[in-house]
Amino acid sequence: MNIQTLETAKNELDQIGFLDIELDPTLDLFAEIEKLKKEKNAILLAHYYQEPDIQDVADYIGDSLGLAQRAEKTDADMIVFAGVHFMAETAKILNPSKKVVIPDLKAGCSLSDSCPPPLFKEFKEQYPDHVVVSYINCSAGIKALSDVICTSSNVKAVVESFPKEQPIIFAPDKNLGAYINKITGRKMLLWNGACMVHEIFSLEKITKLKVRHPNAKLIAHPECEDPILRMADFIGSTTGLLKYTQTDSSQEYIVATETGILHQMMKAAPQKTFIPAPPDNSCACNDCPHMKRNTLEKLYLCMEYEEPEILMDEELRLAAKKPIDRMLEISKMAGL
Ligand code: 13P
Ligand code: SF4
Repeated sequence: MNIQTLETAKNELDQIGFLDIELDPTLDLFAEIEKLKKEKNAILLAHYYQEPDIQDVADYIGDSLGLAQRAEKTDADMIVFAGVHFMAETAKILNPSKKVVIPDLKAGCSLSDSCPPPLFKEFKEQYPDHVVVSYINCSAGIKALSDVICTSSNVKAVVESFPKEQPIIFAPDKNLGAYINKITGRKMLLWNGACMVHEIFSLEKITKLKVRHPNAKLIAHPECEDPILRMADFIGSTTGLLKYTQTDSSQEYIVATETGILHQMMKAAPQKTFIPAPPDNSCACNDCPHMKRNTLEKLYLCMEYEEPEILMDEELRLAAKKPIDRMLEISKMAGL
């Protein structure tokens, strides 16, 4: 059994163990989590797509870039990452000596899953003159095959750090890649991956909503498909969208991204109206099922028992760190 299989098996068992633990319903989880943070010198980092309770107890809430930057500079002994696996893995890559735990190890990402390293390696080998720019929503295996990583808030700066004539492979998000090709005039070769949440929005239903709310602005994450982006009044990362709703003078917004971000939008501007963009069926598909695997209960348990823990092979970690460091450097130079 190799290291990763062993680790997976251990964590699967840990997860089953957790399911068996019945928490006392009178336990004040908010207070307990605060207590554990102090006792263990832990920092709790949460993505905007986490459930409101988790956001409310976090030390830092951010988009993928903000979270990576915060993880890089922490002096806590333990990083508790309320997000999905690739985010916690990035924190571990940047902080090998710290313990990194995640409430649910199975919190994955459809975009990351759409790009398996062996297939991507074969693809990359067909274009030896291309550099590889990968969106942070990918596994450490993909990061290790990349020249530089980007997030939705620094992707333009990262792509434009290469000369215009430099051929580029962009992975794994074809929607984000197509959007960047459009705004930079590049012709990057795109891996055929997508996020299950951002591909679900219905153009027809959004059009109908716009008719009923003529003053509402459509704001969209660049992981959305081109027809939605073409209709959008503003396109940005989760932090970008949040900042826009705080500085823009409109009172109503149709929000085309995962619903978790609405919590901070409503907190920052309670007088404004935020309408989640509707999916093309009746399910709650604009809730990310991976992000929403994390709950306050699992968060408490992972802090108490300090698992499941993110563990990594050192060779893979070092190979994956290089393109992340390059991204952080470009972001710093761009003032991001
Ligand atoms: P950002 O937080 O970088 O905007 O990314 C959104 C996302 O889909 C994370 O999984
Ligand atoms: Fe992945 Fe999409 Fe969920 Fe983000 S919202 S974690 S990209 S599946």
